[in-house]
Parts: sequence; C-alpha cells; structure tokens
Amino acid sequence: MASDTVYRASTTAPVNIAVVKYWGKRDAKLNLPTNSSLSVTLSQADLRTLTTASCSARYPASEGDSLLLNGEPSDVSGARTQACFRELRSRRAALEAADPSLPKLSTMPLRIVSENNFPTAAGLASSAAGFAAFVRAIANLYELPASPSELSLIARQGSGSACRSLFGGYVAWRMGDKADGSDSMADQVAEASHWPEMRALILVVSAAKKGVSSTSGMQQTVATSGLFQERITKVVPKNMELMEKAIAEKDFPAFAEVTMRDSNSFHATCADTYPPIFYMNDVSKAAIRAVETINANVGRTVAAYTFDAGPNAVIYYLEKDTEAVVGTFYHVIGDTDGWKKDVLKGLKPTMSLDEGV
Ligand code: DP6
Repeated sequence: MASDTVYRASTTAPVNIAVVKYWGKRDAKLNLPTNSSLSVTLSQADLRTLTTASCSARYPASEGDSLLLNGEPSDVSGARTQACFRELRSRRAALEAADPSLPKLSTMPLRIVSENNFPTAAGLASSAAGFAAFVRAIANLYELPASPSELSLIARQGSGSACRSLFGGYVAWRMGDKADGSDSMADQVAEASHWPEMRALILVVSAAKKGVSSTSGMQQTVATSGLFQERITKVVPKNMELMEKAIAEKDFPAFAEVTMRDSNSFHATCADTYPPIFYMNDVSKAAIRAVETINANVGRTVAAYTFDAGPNAVIYYLEKDTEAVVGTFYHVIGDTDGWKKDVLKGLKPTMSLDEGV
C-alpha cells in the first residue's frame, strides 16, 4: 500500500533586471552563455513568483510530473524543465542511497503550483523568478544541502537569467569556461544592504506577450550579427569590470553609464541581427529621452534606463533622487500625449532591492 503522506514545500523568488545583459549561448543544451552578466534583484513585495512543490506516492504515476502556472496547466516535457527535474531528482536519489531511512521522494511524481504577481512573458523576467522558485521549491522539498550557487547551476538550465534570482542584492552570473557547465553559475557581488538606496521604477509600456522570445532572439543574434563578436569579446568584459567597481564604490553615475551603455549595446546587436530584431518601440525611445532630460535638468546623472527583450523600461535611481526622477516622470507623463498616458497606466510604485533569501 502506498503511503498517503503528501510532502510539500513552498518558496518565493524575486525578479532580477540585468545591468550587464546576458545575450547569446555557447551551448544551447546546457544553456551556457557567451558572456558573463550582472543584475540587481528587485523587491519581492512588488514582483515575485510563489511556488509550491509537492510529491506523494499516492499521486498516480501515470499522470507524471505536472506544473500549474497561474492556474493553467503548463507543459513540463520541454528539455529545460526536464533538465531541472533530472538534476534535482538525482541529487535526492543520492541522499536516499546514502541514508535508506529517508522516504523515497525521488521516485514520486511531482506537482508544482506557481503564481506570478505580474504579467508573464511581458519582458519582465518572469522566467527568471519562475525557474528560480521552481528549483528552490523542489530543493527544499527534497531537503537538499545545496548552496544558492549550486542551485543556480540547476536553475540556469531552466532559463539562464534564473540563476541570478537565487540571490538578493547585486548578482553576477560568471560564464565559466568548462564544457560541462559546472562553473557557469551565479554569485553575489554585494548584498542589498551594501547599497540599499538603489531603486527601480518599472514603466510597463506593454504587458502583452513579447514578439521574439529571448531564447530564439539570442540564437539569431549569435548566428548572424557581426557586432555581437565585439560585444562578447570587448564590450561586456569591460562593462563587467566597470560595473563591479561602480557597485563596490557605490558610484551611481558610473553604475548608470554602464547600465545605459550596456542596454544600448545589447539592442544594437539585436538591430544588427539579420533579419533585425526590435524590442524597443517609440514609447521606449521616449522613455530614454525622458531620462536624458531628467539628468540634464538636474545637472548630474540621477537616472539610468535599461531594456530587456521587450519594450518596458526599468529606470534605476537612488532614493534621495526620487523626487527628481519619479516626480519628473509623473510630471512628463502627466501630459495628454497618447504614449505618456499609456506609460502612466503602468507606472509601478518605487521599489527597493530584495534582501535575498
Ligand atoms: C535580455 O534568461 O530569458 O533579459 O536562457 O533562453 O531562457 P533563456 O533566456 P533568458 O534571457 C534573458 C535575456 C535578457 C538579459 C538578461 O536578463 O541578462
């Protein structure tokens, strides 16, 4: 008789927004990147994924593993999700082999229930929080003695940017150089408390699902863009160095310049992809101009924009400059022009960084 026990664990994971972007895979199967990247983890009060993993011998084996995402059944047969299940199960199986008194959770079907409190696939890094929460919920359920860096190795295989959502604060994903990917993982560059004045404002230009997914967009860039070589060999290594220094020294103008230059460089390689990929629209470009206007009016760099694979802008600034940045955005956006009203609808509250887990 199968035991009736249902084993369960829950966790939440935050969203991260890269200031030095990951764009390009050197190994699509292991999800290994062509460059290192660096991100800021945002507050879970505003954006997070909440995931519960459960397993039981009474779950019918014929139904296999399942995932309910925002209330809808979601396919788990994809290679990325399967890789995460496989990695986690084999670690649990090793524990069970070492200690036969442990329940054989590794052989039971898994049920995962996951909810985002923000639009999925709207360029708001939902896959990052999603896979980070997915991996940690199962790791907690399996009581794996794994560090966040070790879990980041697994989450990376679900979605590259997810490996950075296992940490709070300022986080680097080191690309590594081993063929098996065992050194391609995230680490914390600085805790949120090191530079707690950092804020992010999200301008939701469009909550619609994005046109070209990151996964396929970056593959097209790797295959066709000449500019991309320059980016991965020269631009990003330099930006990583400058960014780590800016964070260590809490130098906002330097942080802002690298953030904006790196976003521009990433979108330039997208435009250099053949056929070209455009993630930013006219509203996004107007947001760039608004940031330039704010910085010029204040007379120093108080705001930095960055865009992922979608039109939404993320604006980084320091708490003390809230009035100049958010106040001005409200003022500018308060205009009656069409685009300004659209952006205003999506203006999110000021967010602080996440302390991590
Ligand atoms: C532009 O992590 O979504 O947001 O590994 O294929 O799942 P996959 O890609 P994903 O790409 C994120 C790209 C980016 C930049 C970044 O977050 O570093």
